[in-house]
Amino acid sequence: MSAIDSVLKETRLFPPSDEFRTKANVSGMEGYNALCEKANNDYEGFWAELARELVTWKKPFTKTLNDSNAPAYKWFEDGELNVSYNCIDRHLEARGNKTAIIFEADDGSVTKVTYRELYERVCAFANGLKSLGVSKGDRVVIYMPHGIEAVVAMQASARIGAIHSVVFGGFSAGALRDRIADAQAKVVITANQSVRGGKAVPLKATTDEAVALGGCESVSKIVVYQRTDAAPEQWSDLNIWWHDLVAGQPADCEPEWVDAEHPLFILYTSGSTGKPKGIQHSTGGYLLGSQVTMQWVFDYKENDVFWCTADVGWITGHSYVAYGPLGIGATQIVFEGVPTFPDAGRFWQMIEKHKVTTFYTAPTAIRSLIKLGGDLPKQYDLSSLRVLGTVGEPINPEAWIWYHEVVGGGRCPIVDTWWQTETGANMIAPLPGAVATKPGSCTLPLPGIIVDIVDESGAPVEPGKGGFLVIKKPWPSMVRTIWNDPDRFKKTYFPEEYNSKLYLAGDSANRDENGYIWIMGRIDDVLNVSGHRLGTMEIESALVANPLVAEAAVVGKPHEIKGEAVVAFVVLKGERPEGEDAKKIAKELREWVAHEIGKIAQPDEIRFGDNLPKTRSGKIMRRLLRDIAKGQSITQDTSTLENPAILDQLAKSAI
Ligand code: WTA
Repeated sequence: MSAIDSVLKETRLFPPSDEFRTKANVSGMEGYNALCEKANNDYEGFWAELARELVTWKKPFTKTLNDSNAPAYKWFEDGELNVSYNCIDRHLEARGNKTAIIFEADDGSVTKVTYRELYERVCAFANGLKSLGVSKGDRVVIYMPHGIEAVVAMQASARIGAIHSVVFGGFSAGALRDRIADAQAKVVITANQSVRGGKAVPLKATTDEAVALGGCESVSKIVVYQRTDAAPEQWSDLNIWWHDLVAGQPADCEPEWVDAEHPLFILYTSGSTGKPKGIQHSTGGYLLGSQVTMQWVFDYKENDVFWCTADVGWITGHSYVAYGPLGIGATQIVFEGVPTFPDAGRFWQMIEKHKVTTFYTAPTAIRSLIKLGGDLPKQYDLSSLRVLGTVGEPINPEAWIWYHEVVGGGRCPIVDTWWQTETGANMIAPLPGAVATKPGSCTLPLPGIIVDIVDESGAPVEPGKGGFLVIKKPWPSMVRTIWNDPDRFKKTYFPEEYNSKLYLAGDSANRDENGYIWIMGRIDDVLNVSGHRLGTMEIESALVANPLVAEAAVVGKPHEIKGEAVVAFVVLKGERPEGEDAKKIAKELREWVAHEIGKIAQPDEIRFGDNLPKTRSGKIMRRLLRDIAKGQSITQDTSTLENPAILDQLAKSAI
């Protein structure tokens, strides 16, 4: 029985406790159904009401949805607002002295910032950016450690109407260069180093390397935050210290009021081709998505201590660190380090220390912490916890049950949240005081999110039959376009096969007889490794850029901790290496990929062959490679294969 079949047979049901349900923002299935019905009866009115309630507008909108140029949908288009005003200024009166961020550094030292202090820091930095000539619509690349300053940089960019593009600090110089060049960034904000798990990561040196690769001529300044004492190796007129930039800047900065559709940020994510896509998000709709899900999914309460462990380099760190919690006026934890340093009890120790109520992390982290110290949570007082969340990949029922019992004490609802960089906010997830959870299922769509599972023709499939996950109506926080590539946006997400009307998520899914949704995996050439999206083509292009490599094909295989592991089949220009030679070259190629893209994309396994399995027309048959990677014998049809003998060689190619 495959893992998918086994989760579909999962029948355990965990309804919210009476106590939780009674106090919840959305209480019971009556509450959930009432919202869904409201959305069904008047879709635009439903969203408009929420947008008026949860977002503060400088100029109120009068139009809700404009679909005249679909699929380039517009929401609240004649409204004006500023995201930074919504995240900071509007809280100053009632919550000026409330802690906005509790920052815990890698070494355990803690810095707290109130909303008032955050306001001052953001305004000073926003003024600093202005002094560098950054203005509305300019792009700012942020390549920083996960910390207060990264959030300040994002908020400051939003404050002056600039468009940020955060690049995860684990990406290499090449990946950073590509993103700077595609966005034509005016300013790059980085740090001399970041610190993770006791080790320093040279962000400034990597930024210098990225710029030296060429194509970054748009960059007129690189702002460097001094995170450690290490002096940067290079320093030029292009560089300015963060502390010098903000010195003497006024601690007030009038927000730039922008249209609801003004781009707030671009975030690059992997797709089916070798080139990452710049996902462009809006201001008004995006902010609404983050706010409403804080209310519904995380059941936000004024005294909560919210902790989302994602780095700001990913969408989860955008919506549930930089914007969602601040927009709603929460106190949140921002943690610089890694879950296993100094030991695998770090998360639990921090939950105890900071009395965390809402904890949101990835299944891969849960699985690795079970493995490294499944009993460790018991050593800590985790009684402050109220809601637990997961994101990024399907969670296996065993890990779910452990999270529920050992971390949540059997008391806390688990919100398994399905969403994507493109959706901007949670889409399918249980409302914790309403929807009974099932281990491994992200349960039901949020009110106002109209989801279906369809076949190739776009017709809905029966329960129990897998199909493609689609979203049938536009929603406020949806991707607006792909930066520089509107055609790719239409083709990828609103394919003509579905009359350009359905949003194709790129995931396959199943619905059980209760209408619960089970995500099965990607339908495109995207891998999900430790909750990170990686394009197989991206890794293949990196491999073939190595002078030794003639051809490469990358596939995923199931992995106990990471969910999926990367397996690369490689044909060298010279002889097929064996024994020690093969090991040496494999190591070299892994380092090469780390250098080209980043460590997260390194193949777990490299196998060498004289060739790859191809059809007569020269197409690589990846499904056969997937079987070989899993160590399975091939039972599929191989009659279209040009070179069947290669399968045997590849099957024995593990090194
Ligand atoms: C997968 C992360 C199962 C899915 C927010 C999706 C999930 C991709 C879940 C998006 C979940 C995300 N259960 N699979 N709860 N959440 N995924 O853009 O394949 O980094 O398409 O956004 O992650 O990844 P992305």
